[in-house]
Amino acid sequence: MNEEGFNIYPIGVVRCAIGATSEMPKDGVTEAKIEIFEKYLPALCGLEKFSHIYLTCFFHKSDRTLLKLDRERILLRFDNCDDAPLGVFASRSPSRPNPLSLTVVKVKAIKDNIIEAAHCDAIDGTPVVDIKPYNGGIDRFMNLSFPACVPKKYDMKIRWIKRIIENVTGENDVMSSVIARIFADAFQRGYHYNDKKVKIAVSNIAKLIDSAIFLADATFSSGRLSVVTAKNFEITFIRNERFLKYSLAIDYKKIGEIDGLDSKKNCELFDIIEEFRQI
Ligand SMILES: C[S@@+](CC[C@H](N)C(=O)[O-])C[C@H]1O[C@@H](n2cnc3c(N)ncnc32)[C@H](O)[C@@H]1O
Repeated sequence: MNEEGFNIYPIGVVRCAIGATSEMPKDGVTEAKIEIFEKYLPALCGLEKFSHIYLTCFFHKSDRTLLKLDRERILLRFDNCDDAPLGVFASRSPSRPNPLSLTVVKVKAIKDNIIEAAHCDAIDGTPVVDIKPYNGGIDRFMNLSFPACVPKKYDMKIRWIKRIIENVTGENDVMSSVIARIFADAFQRGYHYNDKKVKIAVSNIAKLIDSAIFLADATFSSGRLSVVTAKNFEITFIRNERFLKYSLAIDYKKIGEIDGLDSKKNCELFDIIEEFRQI
């Protein structure tokens, strides 16, 4: 084996409005252009058939000497991370010996040598080294084991959860925002949706069921998810002997009409009950 290294060349460059690593939102930018160099144009043939791709970049601003993350810094920024994995190979840190990134980005359009993408988290000017299609069939898994850290700040938590809902439903709408607020609120109250000991019961609304499955990795077969008969939008988190139940205060079919959602307090949107379990 050649331990001296390999020859890898940039095949393109990322263009987006963010030029500093500290300013990149956690879930990337909604508008990025991946510019592929002309000589690699034939390699893009057929890529337009895929809605999502793996983007691998060379993170040129990374610290290549870092092997272990600082626990205190992680605890400041994330919840549920008391036993956070610290080795860079057990993390998505941009800093690592070979700073190759791996991001699933959404392809909005391909025009000549430009891939217009969303969810790209590489800063402007980042060299691109590879692109591969994301294959929903073989690349997607459920019933996983992973440390379930989530961002500490409430607004970041909502964004994070909303992003996962968008991944599932393909939509970024008021319903997703409402569901994200419930899951974030429940988390703050100690009902960690991604804790395997927390069970979830939802009313029979497709988006709610899909969100619970993907956010909490709560499948029917795992026994953590159930669907209850309820007239309106309801979700209950059950942990040991306690439960926390959210019922939407308006008819869920009118959810799209909620104006100024961000400025609304949760108590205006939901009836929230927390009690000992009798359900
Ligand atoms: C946490 S990493 C994750 C990257 C990729 N999704 C992955 O998992 O490999 C993303 C962060 O890397 C930083 N970053 C982006 N472009 C970079 C670059 N060219 N060099 C170093 N760091 C970069 C930004 O702070 C961005 O938010």
